[in-house]
Amino acid sequence: MAETIYDLLVLGAGPGGYQAAVYAAQQGMTVAVVDERPLPGGVCMNEGCIPSKALLSSSGLFVQSRQGLEEHGIELAAPTLNLARMMTRKQQIVDRLGGGVKFLFQMHHIHHQVGRGSLLPPSLPPPPSTAAGHRVEVVTPQGVLTLTAQRLLLATGSCPRGVPALPVDGQQILHAGHALSLAQVPEHLLVVGAGAIGLEIGSVWQRLGAQVTVVEQLDQIVPFAEPALAGALQQLLEGQGFRFRLETRVEKVVHSGDRLKVQLLDSAAGSQEVVCDQILVAVGRQPNVDNLGLDRVGLTTNDDGRLEVDDDFQTAVAGIYALGDMIGGPMLAHKAGFEAQVFVERLKGHRATIDYHLMPKVIYTHPELAVVGHSGDELTQQGLEFVSSKVPFLINGRAHCYGDADGSVELIAAADSGRLLGVAILGPQASELINQAGALLTLGGNVEDLMRCCQAHPSLGEMFKEVAQQLHLKILRQRRRHGSGKDRL
Ligand code: NAI
Repeated sequence: MAETIYDLLVLGAGPGGYQAAVYAAQQGMTVAVVDERPLPGGVCMNEGCIPSKALLSSSGLFVQSRQGLEEHGIELAAPTLNLARMMTRKQQIVDRLGGGVKFLFQMHHIHHQVGRGSLLPPSLPPPPSTAAGHRVEVVTPQGVLTLTAQRLLLATGSCPRGVPALPVDGQQILHAGHALSLAQVPEHLLVVGAGAIGLEIGSVWQRLGAQVTVVEQLDQIVPFAEPALAGALQQLLEGQGFRFRLETRVEKVVHSGDRLKVQLLDSAAGSQEVVCDQILVAVGRQPNVDNLGLDRVGLTTNDDGRLEVDDDFQTAVAGIYALGDMIGGPMLAHKAGFEAQVFVERLKGHRATIDYHLMPKVIYTHPELAVVGHSGDELTQQGLEFVSSKVPFLINGRAHCYGDADGSVELIAAADSGRLLGVAILGPQASELINQAGALLTLGGNVEDLMRCCQAHPSLGEMFKEVAQQLHLKILRQRRRHGSGKDRL
């Protein structure tokens, strides 16, 4: 039987890989996807975005049922935690969504090969049928096989970065995947790294009853947020019971029975000891490039450990492409998925491009923090003149009805044209609201456009109208001061 030569072979079935596979198949290409996990969806689906949001929802309800319902006139006996049931629900969601991706593969006749893939060198001399082909060796439980394709897309994602002083054992010193599957609530969880993973998983266990201490080497939490916004979130999290140790690093850990004695080095206070029972290491991620056989095809990584690609996502080797966490840019599932869409569009000859500033960044704490576009600090560094306004959720009727009126919405716009340049939200459903802001930024909208978008009443979206009205007036006042009579942007 003649060997199948796929139009596209995708290595990695995470958000970048599986979406590229499905888009490509929808465009008429023959596609194979290789991933060692039986359930597609990568880290995002199996031990990242989806399970963490499932547990954030459950733990949020637990807190609400303990503290937040009496004022609604709902009185319950003190609720108890069935952690095993909560974990089962989380896994059911993962299985349902992963099964949905499998179904998409079937529907689009995508060959889904479970196994560990690595690149093979070009065959010399190439047999005629594989003259333009790239070959991947796949080690499966049933044996080793070779798949060949005209084009190869590397989308193998990333894995957690380590800290030398914190050897992960999966029992007491954990990565995110372990910390999303604990069988009991830790008494004291030490989280190292105050980024998305540390704060989200820290929130889950704090809500379920753990004391959570977050150690962060920088002088603020959430490195991508402006200090004032990060400070506001920190204060709210402290109100929930979080403890933060900023400008602090872990020096040493000593096992003491079933507890851990952790030596911290605080840049101001010096050496200090904290005792905890588990540690979550959440200090960033690194691309999965090891044991992929990159050297067999002549590919090397840059100083950051990532693959360099051109605008078509093509690496230095013709016909081999890469996207997602393996290449530059933020390590976000929606970034990988968006790149997948643009990769296929460009394969089909469309000149689609990506403005990475228009990708929202979200932390799913309570309240949520979400930003899109440029921050004021970035614009100041670039020497660009901008105006901004911030409105607190305290003025929003719907936020009060939700019982969730902490935080604010800030708009940043070009001082001359009023074009929207950035939006920062700390507050209820910021992860949903930011998409409305992102859409307007993508369409090149200005403050007046946003002011003229009619928002349902009562809704959280009305915050945009309020803050846009305020910023519009600010811009007009500035114009009058500078002698321009125009009252439209
Ligand atoms: P991160 O890069 O967001 O945060 C890591 C934090 O650890 C930083 O604040 C850093 O300063 C700190 N850190 C690094 N080394 C340290 C040390 N030795 N001691 C103390 N602090 C140290 O990384 P994180 O949270 O691990 O997330 C990994 C990736 O996954 C990120 O790119 C993140 O954006 C993404 N992600 C996104 C989510 C979302 O969109 N909601 C959810 C989870 C992860």
